[in-house]
Amino acid sequence: MQNSNENTHIPHILVVDDELSMRELLELMMEREGYKVSCAESGNKAIELIEKTDFDLLLCDIRLGDITGLDVLRAAKKQNQDTVVIMISAYATAETAVEAMNDGAYDYLPKPFDKDELKHTIANALDLKTTKQEKKILDNKFKKTLHFGIIIGNSPKMMHIYGMIEQVAKTTTNILITGESGTGKELIAKAINEQSDRRDKPFVVINCGGIPETLIESELLGYKKGAFTGATQDKKGLFEIADKGTVFLDEIGELSIQLQVKLLRVVQDKVFKAVGGSEDISVDIRIISATNKNLEDEVIAGKFREDLFYRLNVIEIKVPPLRERKGDIRALCQHFLDKYSREMGKEVTRISSYAIDLLNKYDFPGNIRELENLLERSVALSSTNILLPESLTLSIHKRRWIEGIRNRRFDLNEVPHGVFLDSIMEEIESAYLKKALECTDGNISRAAEQLGISFRSMRYRLNKLKIEK
Ligand SMILES: Nc1ncnc2c1ncn2[C@@H]1O[C@H](COP(=O)(O)OP(=O)(O)OP(=O)(O)O)[C@@H](O)[C@H]1O
Ligand SMILES: [Mg+2]
Repeated sequence: MQNSNENTHIPHILVVDDELSMRELLELMMEREGYKVSCAESGNKAIELIEKTDFDLLLCDIRLGDITGLDVLRAAKKQNQDTVVIMISAYATAETAVEAMNDGAYDYLPKPFDKDELKHTIANALDLKTTKQEKKILDNKFKKTLHFGIIIGNSPKMMHIYGMIEQVAKTTTNILITGESGTGKELIAKAINEQSDRRDKPFVVINCGGIPETLIESELLGYKKGAFTGATQDKKGLFEIADKGTVFLDEIGELSIQLQVKLLRVVQDKVFKAVGGSEDISVDIRIISATNKNLEDEVIAGKFREDLFYRLNVIEIKVPPLRERKGDIRALCQHFLDKYSREMGKEVTRISSYAIDLLNKYDFPGNIRELENLLERSVALSSTNILLPESLTLSIHKRRWIEGIRNRRFDLNEVPHGVFLDSIMEEIESAYLKKALECTDGNISRAAEQLGISFRSMRYRLNKLKIEK
């Protein structure tokens, strides 16, 4: 039986570039990916082809010999609104890129482009196109799903955590949430509470690091009138306020040893005495604690009681740092863009792939909180409604950090975290090209011969790496 036409449809791509080597490269690359490819060497030629053929996708340079890539983009969109157009340019300013995206370009990639990134972008774009509600989906290109109404991210590591949340929510087991600062521990505690039968009862957050040592005991346990100077009347402690509900003990690693002893009794027996009180108060509470410290190390160092540790840590939820789930960056960005655009009454609605790419190269020691702050600032300062790499308010320090990774020296003795094979390869390639040119007094064909590559390939590489002859 024959498949329907739709299933066997091979996407037809039009490459528009005035530079022969670029057309050849893109053509070859796209053919290898299994697409049907046509090429146009000028804007007018492209428009001529567009009028005759219905292309699925256009890869279009911005600077062409005659008219501009933006003219081609508009013509293509006029012909068929569904044609996906990806702009590529070495010269584009932020304004052109924004203009292109506002005129319906799917994305804008600066040259030299990363081959894998381009393949990925094209595959994604075509994927979206084949799904029927193309327009809708394009608008929600980075559609985010909220888990439990508050948590963003579909990476396998987060999916695993959502599974755990569901499993533990209906129990009263004590839970310890661990993870670096800003990874979303509090959000997870809230999600557990929301999924539990206690959701309508109090959810009391106790920041163990934030309450002064002298106050914490009376805050937690409450006090009786006359217990100390200033105790003019009885006061309920947070544990009692949380009765029938959930207590979230944040930064549990900050608790002093003395208070750990007191807490142990509450955790074990759900019973305690108010400061200055004599009778036992019993409560029905579910305890979720969180820490960014390694409590096991603290136990070994004698800073955290082992018995308390095991009581609190019946089930541990380990929240991975953002750098281990970079796949979530895109959805998180879109989420924070929406959030801050709304709050600030601005319309910064999209973020370009290259801005995402730049963020992917960063390690985010401050995790999601750092990403959120970055986007808040970027939205506040953005004068366009699309965030481009240059509109990200990355500090000089961070940009250097990213650049540092790009320029890391070739060294096989260590494969550090965050190493970029592509940039290392480029570095080596560039060194060989320069050397060969030097040895041949800048003669491209002889240099190419020396390196065992074709003249065309040599020229393309020189262009790509911006090497002057
Ligand atoms: N997956 C997520 N989706 C959406 N927002 C998130 C996510 N994770 C964290 N955030 C946001 O990032 C910020 C930091 O999260 P949260 O306070 O839960 O981190 P934390 O792990 O408790 O950090 P710390 O250890 O510093 O207290 C919050 O504004 C939170 O809303
Ligand atoms: Mg927290």
